[in-house]
Amino acid sequence: MTVSEKELLKKEKKYCSWGDTVHYLEPPKFFERCEGIYLYDKKGTPYLDLQMWYSAASFGYKNERLGNALKEQLEKLPQLACQYLHSEKVELAERIAKSMEKLFGLKGRVHFNVGGSQAVEDSLKLVRNHTGKSLVFAFMGGYHGRTLGASAITSSYRYRRRFGHFSDKAHFVPYPYCFRCPYGKKYPDCGMYCVKQFEKLFETEYNGVLDTKVNESEYGAFYIEAIQGTGGYVIPPKEYFPYLKKILERHHILLVDDEIQMGFHRAGKLWALAEFHVKPDVVVFGKALTNGLNPLSGIWAREELINPKVFPAGSTHSTFSSNTLGTALGLEVMKMCEEENVEKKVKEKGKAFLSRLKALQKKHKKIIGDVDGMGLALRMEMTKSDGYTPDRHLADRIFAEGMKGNIRTSKGTFGLVLDVGGYYKNVFTIAPAFDVTESEMDLAVGLLDQLIKRCIRK
Ligand SMILES: Cc1ncc(COP(=O)(O)O)c(C=O)c1O
Repeated sequence: MTVSEKELLKKEKKYCSWGDTVHYLEPPKFFERCEGIYLYDKKGTPYLDLQMWYSAASFGYKNERLGNALKEQLEKLPQLACQYLHSEKVELAERIAKSMEKLFGLKGRVHFNVGGSQAVEDSLKLVRNHTGKSLVFAFMGGYHGRTLGASAITSSYRYRRRFGHFSDKAHFVPYPYCFRCPYGKKYPDCGMYCVKQFEKLFETEYNGVLDTKVNESEYGAFYIEAIQGTGGYVIPPKEYFPYLKKILERHHILLVDDEIQMGFHRAGKLWALAEFHVKPDVVVFGKALTNGLNPLSGIWAREELINPKVFPAGSTHSTFSSNTLGTALGLEVMKMCEEENVEKKVKEKGKAFLSRLKALQKKHKKIIGDVDGMGLALRMEMTKSDGYTPDRHLADRIFAEGMKGNIRTSKGTFGLVLDVGGYYKNVFTIAPAFDVTESEMDLAVGLLDQLIKRCIRK
């Protein structure tokens, strides 16, 4: 006998911790099935998903090729302790390392773990091991996860508030968020004022980051997201990262590129940082590496930082770190990326989607303050009628209405799955599946249009 949703909700309230979720709806929603770009509820209503599990399922739900790779591995070698080797691990590491050679011209090695935050932790150990420093820079608006170490370099105090003192908390630097410039400037007239302000920190020892006599910084690395994910899919001007990198090189500070959300082509190229022509020292990845199936994450680092002489066996380890199911999936994802020209597809589809969002903005220009995108990482800021003041409540209402699954169209009744992010929680971070079709884009924007009309009437 199946248990009713009402009963399940009662049990959830009683037995499930909420600490491991991000419940935004009351009551939270159940889904039964997923396929392609849709989630389905019990009644069979399709919910067009514009967020694809925070970009972890970029290649579509129940992707057939990846499903087959998983089944094959289940038949062949579903379990193996990480002290032994299996071919998929080695081949996946090779492909990722070669992608870094191709895109950045750098040689290095790959190291696995199971979740994004754990990989961030591993990268922190790597930075400490190489530099002897436990302090790092990170961006305001940045998100790197919720383990203790990752919380220390994530900008939100909300994630640290109840958990004591974080002696290794990052020094947070304003991100180049031009629509809401932290310095009140306008690009390009600003002359890159923000990065120059960062540069100023190194002018004198009294700014607290550098011993100018020996040119040694108290900070070992700068953690970046080339495009901020949870921060609201904020895209920096193209000159920003090349300028930042020069400052870091001058003071021997490592650049750690968190590609957990933007990696695997979300913004176009395999690694989003490559869009900005800057070389990283360390790259952290996760999410779409296995398309949200058996989880796997990892780091790549330059050979000098990670070779076994300096970072020997056991430097970090998880029982599940290079698990066979995850590495088989990761290998298949990398093959797909190489064989299916995903970059071209993402760029073309991203353009088509962005132009539809811009048209939608024209229609509702007072309350859609900004629309932007790179590849299929798209953003839409909901604002008050001045086109600027963030309207978090409107974004929340649209999100909740989309979840009702009652939007009527000529193609049937749909729901719409959205995710709200951004510094003021007024931004829809839009990450459609890479195989989204033109007619699905039309449908998605039509659904958004209906939801906006519904919510501004309220
Ligand atoms: C940029 C970035 N870094 C790190 C993380 C943490 O990854 P996980 O949730 O797998 O621990 C996330 C997750 O959203 C992310 O977007």
